[in-house]
Amino acid sequence: MKPRHLVTLRDLSPAEFRALIARATELKALKTPYEPLKNKVLGMVFEKSSTRTRVSFEVGMAQFGGSSIFLSPRDTQLGRGEPIEDSARVLSRMVDCIMLRTHAHSTVEIFAEYSRVPVINGLTDRFHPCQLLADMQTYFEHRGDIAGKTVAWVGDGNNMCQTYIDAAEMLDFELRIACPPGYEPETDLVEAAGRRVVVERNVQAAVSGADLVVTDVWASMGQESEQDERISAFENYQVDGSLMALAHSDALFMHCLPAHRGEEVSTEVLEGPQSVVWDEAENRLHAQKALLEFLLAD
Ligand code: CP
Ligand code: NVA
Repeated sequence: MKPRHLVTLRDLSPAEFRALIARATELKALKTPYEPLKNKVLGMVFEKSSTRTRVSFEVGMAQFGGSSIFLSPRDTQLGRGEPIEDSARVLSRMVDCIMLRTHAHSTVEIFAEYSRVPVINGLTDRFHPCQLLADMQTYFEHRGDIAGKTVAWVGDGNNMCQTYIDAAEMLDFELRIACPPGYEPETDLVEAAGRRVVVERNVQAAVSGADLVVTDVWASMGQESEQDERISAFENYQVDGSLMALAHSDALFMHCLPAHRGEEVSTEVLEGPQSVVWDEAENRLHAQKALLEFLLAD
């Protein structure tokens, strides 16, 4: 039987997505040791840097009684050109689950195709599903169900933005994406999402009355050489106090982190009362524990 994967949020049904959010909140409240993954091993392949993703998966596996192995292309044969298909077949005969953070989304897709064990996308150039599990858990914990609410995405139409498009469809919220021309998410994704997702050129209009305002860095990992041109393109896209003031009075602010204060978000907003970024970061641990339990526990 083919294993379940989390390559994109679409690998879950909407009901499973909601169940994972609820389970993550339950696991967060659990005070007694709970070790459903005793002796299980998670392999983690990182082509890019990480603080939250690496630590939350390692800690999650340890708390569940299992362990994890950090694999960098620099020190493995992956970095010396061993085919992805071969690496997937070999690794998946030894470990119980594989998490990958890669540049190309296709690397994770190929890994999943050839793996005998569940594969988790820990961020690619197109999607970051684990972050959305945590973001949605955080919204539900602070404000209840997100169905029928309005989310404003301000900034680059990047991997995070594209994962919000998936979440909007699955959890039934309206997503307004404010981005400069040339930095839109993939057209196919926006079109397939139908009326729930709109690209809005006027950033103030996008944020007006929103229940959640979200942003991310202007230059993602792998785009460092575009930093200067992106700073110019995005100069009117900073989430600052005056922009947040247009949102609903009890709107939340989220950012997957790491944040660049003074670029995509002002210090005032990041550190302000509407910001839930530290809960959001913590929830990476709880949400991924719910995911690991879902994919791996007997
Ligand atoms: N948000 C996030 O994925 O953080 P890291 O890059 O630190 O893993
Ligand atoms: N869009 C960012 C997210 C980092 C967690 C990046 O890909 O670098």
